[in-house]
Amino acid sequence: MSKVAGSEVAKRPIGVFDSGIGGLTVLAVLRRMFPHEDFIYVGDNANNPVGNRPKHEISQIAMNIGHFLAEVPVKMAVVACNTFSVVALDELQATFDYPVVGVAKGVRTAIDTSQTQSIAVMATKATIESHKHKEEALELDPQISMWEQACPDLAHLIEQGHLDDHVIHASVQEYLDPIIAHGADTIVLGCTHFPFLTDLMQHMTGGEKTFIDPSYETAQEVKDVLESHNLMNPQTTKGTLDLCFTKDKELAERMTSLLIPPEEFNLRLIKL
Ligand code: DGL
Repeated sequence: MSKVAGSEVAKRPIGVFDSGIGGLTVLAVLRRMFPHEDFIYVGDNANNPVGNRPKHEISQIAMNIGHFLAEVPVKMAVVACNTFSVVALDELQATFDYPVVGVAKGVRTAIDTSQTQSIAVMATKATIESHKHKEEALELDPQISMWEQACPDLAHLIEQGHLDDHVIHASVQEYLDPIIAHGADTIVLGCTHFPFLTDLMQHMTGGEKTFIDPSYETAQEVKDVLESHNLMNPQTTKGTLDLCFTKDKELAERMTSLLIPPEEFNLRLIKL
């Protein structure tokens, strides 16, 4: 990166990636916050779900995407996946020349929002087993009570387009029940797929719980990196969006259209 003039590097796209469509919930917030940035998004849906896999496989999948983004080349990458972030962020940061930001945990916002000092996190099995959300919560507030709810089926169901049918209702209910029994009033969505279900979960909890989408905290961290590394794109026109998936083009297009108007993206299949 050092051989290329800084102003040229700033014109490169920002890479954003996930094991599928989940990271689009982060991308949508980033595009609103940075309208002049160009983005390249990689959704490795051929490997979805990653959250039930052993750590070495999760790292390998994340690193492959990192190498793809290095070839583009990108000026920075956002790991828009909690599972990749808890398992592989250190390795990604140690390997690539470009800055890499992991998805934020949303724990501080949850603690500030909770009226009862009782919060929960819903995430993949690998993310819950890392206990990173709970560790951060206890560091910020040793009195906080945090319920950790693994949701092993949820990301893949969302990936397959189950957003409001009896299959997703039954699965969500199974994961919400222990949280409700624990008494948490604020729930961190610790998997980037889950904001696709915010309305459904709000409805299923009678509007009594607050769901925290960490994308907003993540966007703030991206802003800090762009500013501190002088990487803000100088262009004044609207940024472009290049979407790359590893299978199921039509399903990926249909799901993407729920968050991003179809005329604003190109979607193509890639091999990693
Ligand atoms: N969206 C990913 C996350 O935030 C996980 C999905 C998966 O299990 O592949 O953890």
